[in-house]
Amino acid sequence: MDSFEINKIIAAVLLTALIVIGIGKAADLVFHVDKPKQSAYKIDGLEVAEVTKESDGKSETVEAVDIAQLLALGNLAHGEKVFKKCSACHMIASDGKNMIGPNLWGVIGRNAASISDYKYSKAMVAYGKNWTFEEMNSYLIKPQAYIKGTKMAFAGLRKEKDRASVILYMNSKSSSPVPLP
Ligand code: HEC
Repeated sequence: MDSFEINKIIAAVLLTALIVIGIGKAADLVFHVDKPKQSAYKIDGLEVAEVTKESDGKSETVEAVDIAQLLALGNLAHGEKVFKKCSACHMIASDGKNMIGPNLWGVIGRNAASISDYKYSKAMVAYGKNWTFEEMNSYLIKPQAYIKGTKMAFAGLRKEKDRASVILYMNSKSSSPVPLP
C-alpha cells in the first residue's frame, strides 16, 4: 500500500467522523427542545422555600408557604369539583353524616379529631392540632406523610390550585368561615 492509499483511507475515516458529528449537530438543531428553567412543581407560581417578608421596613425570612399567596390561586367553583374526590369518603353538610371519613362541615378552624361520634385513628387523635389553612394545606399534599398512621387512604393533592380551591370550598361549608389571611 503506498502512502497515497493510506492518505485516502485516513481521509475517508476523517470524512466519516465529520459526517457523524455533523448529523448529531444537525439533529440537535432540528430537535432542540428548550428545557423549562423551573421545575414543574414551581410552575403553579408559588415559592415554597424561602419567602422574604417586608414589614415596617424590616425584612424577615420565613421558611413557609405564604398561605395568602397560595389561597389566591384557588376558587370556589374549582374547589367544589376537587371535593368530588373527597366525597367518596366525606360529607360536608351541616347535617352531614360520618361515612368512611368524618363529616367535614366547619372543619377549617376546628381541632383535628373533634367529631365525637367518629372513630379516628390514634395518629389523628395524637395530632389533634387546629385545622388552620396552613395545617390543612400541609396535610392535603400527602396526608399519610404528614400524619403518619392516619387511616385516610388518599394519595393527596399535588397541585397548589387544587389544594387552595378545596380549602376555600371547605371553609365556605361552615356556619362561621374563618376570615381569609
Ligand atoms: C378513601 C377515603 C377518603 C378520601 C377519598 C378522603 N378522605 Fe379525608 N379522611 C378519611 C378518613 C378515614 C379520615 C379519618 C382519618 C384518621 O382518623 O386518621 C379522614 C380525615 C380527614 C380530615 C380530618 C378531619 C377531622 O375531623 O379532623 C380532613 C380534614 C380530611 N379527611 C379531608 C379530606 C379532603 C379535603 C379530601 C379530598 C381532597 C379527603 N379527605 C379525601 C377518608 C378519606
